[in-house]
Amino acid sequence: MPSARKDRTLRRMAKEIRQCRKCSLSQRRKNAVPGEGPSNARIFLVGEAPGKAEDEKGEPFVGMAGRVLDEALKKAGLHRSKVFITSVLRCRPPNNRNPKAKEIAACRPYLESYVETISPRVLVALGSYGLRGLVGKTLKVGETRGKRLDYKGTPVIATYHPAAVLYNRKLMRKLVSDLKKAKSKSQAKRSRGG
Ligand code: URA
Repeated sequence: MPSARKDRTLRRMAKEIRQCRKCSLSQRRKNAVPGEGPSNARIFLVGEAPGKAEDEKGEPFVGMAGRVLDEALKKAGLHRSKVFITSVLRCRPPNNRNPKAKEIAACRPYLESYVETISPRVLVALGSYGLRGLVGKTLKVGETRGKRLDYKGTPVIATYHPAAVLYNRKLMRKLVSDLKKAKSKSQAKRSRGG
């Protein structure tokens, strides 16, 4: 897809997401959080759901987990401005509870459209919900890291959610190493498909 068309699609989606009423999370949110990043991003990160800071600002990963993510990206030789970031849900669940299956299902068309529009070289699932959003199954990151996974032919790297690193700093090394893998995969030729 030509980049001007991709940019238009992303702007249209952001507008639609900000007005979305597809599930009950829309009733209590301050702001819905559209995906963010360049339309030609080769790396596409999928988190879980907006938290308090994201709900206030309407932007993904701007709270404490976002700071960890920025640090991990930097350590991996990447910069946020070059990657696309969204989550499985685009509205904050009350008190940051886990996403419900019906919320994930209601929000999934946005994730699908984002992946189709960006057409990244590699997807990075941050945490088990990011993984579930892409792979459709409940899998534990610790048991899935390093396994070959794909979403419609695009490789998926499963790694820890930056919020998990806040509780266990030892996971930072693993998150950085997985982001480095994503970087090298993003520089390789496409293995399959488009
Ligand atoms: N955690 C997520 O998974 N997504 C966000 O946007 C913010 C925090």
